[in-house]
Amino acid sequence: MQTYKIAVLKGDGIGPEIVEQAMKVLTKAGEKFGFEFDFQNELLGGAAIDATGVPLPQKTVDTCKAADSTLLGAVGGPKWDSQPGANRPEKGLLGIRAALGLFANLRPAVIFPELRSASPLKDEIIGDNLNILIVRELTGGIYFGERGRYTENGVEAAYDTEKYSVTEIERIVRVAFDMAMKRSKKLCSVDKANVLESSRLWRATVERISKDFPEVEVSYMYVDNCAMQLVRNPRQFDVIVTSNMFGDILSDEASMISGSIGMLASASLSAGKSGLYEPIHGSAPDIAGTGKANPLATILSGAMLLRYSLDQPKAADAIEAAVSAALKKGRTCDIAAENLPTLSCTEMGDLVCESLQ
Ligand code: NAD
Ligand code: IPM
Ligand code: MN
Repeated sequence: MQTYKIAVLKGDGIGPEIVEQAMKVLTKAGEKFGFEFDFQNELLGGAAIDATGVPLPQKTVDTCKAADSTLLGAVGGPKWDSQPGANRPEKGLLGIRAALGLFANLRPAVIFPELRSASPLKDEIIGDNLNILIVRELTGGIYFGERGRYTENGVEAAYDTEKYSVTEIERIVRVAFDMAMKRSKKLCSVDKANVLESSRLWRATVERISKDFPEVEVSYMYVDNCAMQLVRNPRQFDVIVTSNMFGDILSDEASMISGSIGMLASASLSAGKSGLYEPIHGSAPDIAGTGKANPLATILSGAMLLRYSLDQPKAADAIEAAVSAALKKGRTCDIAAENLPTLSCTEMGDLVCESLQ
């Protein structure tokens, strides 16, 4: 039987609870579709700081590099918030993204029809089958630019630099065009080209590459307008391509359209097949250990792992169908419905397993 090696980085806060549900569902999908997993747990984030003193131990990088793919929960929490920037849990996450060359972050904002009433937007605004794909650049921009502190006329100051090379822009934009070609052939590039030089280079690069994809209808939007348009008329979007920080912010906003941030999965991809899969939300310290976490974003990230890294699209489809079926029978707190039982994180994981056909 085919055995896939999966590096597992549970992380902090709700990380361990949600990743365990995804591992359970992946194992069950393997049983149905004829493959199995060799899960290899490694430390990342606060858990790694506590055990080893650093947020990204070399062993974690090595295991991820040797694995077929990586599954991640979330990192961070108040316990480590006073750490210096270079030794915060989040630095470990940025480090593993960089070490694995994961420049393309796919964040699909999909609304399951069962969750229409969980969305704060009106039915007529969401429409049927809303499905937006945010393609976020993940290893460049202000997250990785030069930063520092200094003193200016006796006053403390700090800076962070937004920087993009044409190479970095071109490779993420090509991923977005490829995705658009497989979908409705519509791409919106989001930037702040009215102010930022890096955005003007971004826009010019999109324009140049668009010549290679004449079938794709390209539009450009400033990020502030996009933030507004996402709630005014989300159906105008199909694929959105944007920089690291804008993609971070817009994807949290888009997640609410789908009912909860606990529903949004993501795939972080490099030029090769092995990727890293994680929910878009964080470690939710406010609910960690209470059993209230929604594991579906992580379970759906597991489905993306099967689709993009392991070439198991039928198993991925089956997990997505099982999530849909589970949503008809029970809900976690964040997407609670009056007529359905409220489930714990573990119970929701069990329900998805039972619903797997
Ligand atoms: P967060 O996403 O952790 O939480 C925001 C809100 O959403 C909270 O009220 C939380 O309870 C809720 N929430 C998040 N995920 C949920 C889920 N699965 N089910 C139900 N409710 C959920 O964002 P934050 O509070 O800004 O950050 C908390 C910590 O997480 C910080 O240390 C931050 O740096 C870190 N973080 C990590 C990642 C990551 O590892 N990928 C992503 C975002 C934030
Ligand atoms: C995310 C998170 C991370 C990011 C943080 C924790 C570094 O918010 O994955 O969306 O900003 O990329
Ligand atoms: Mn984020």
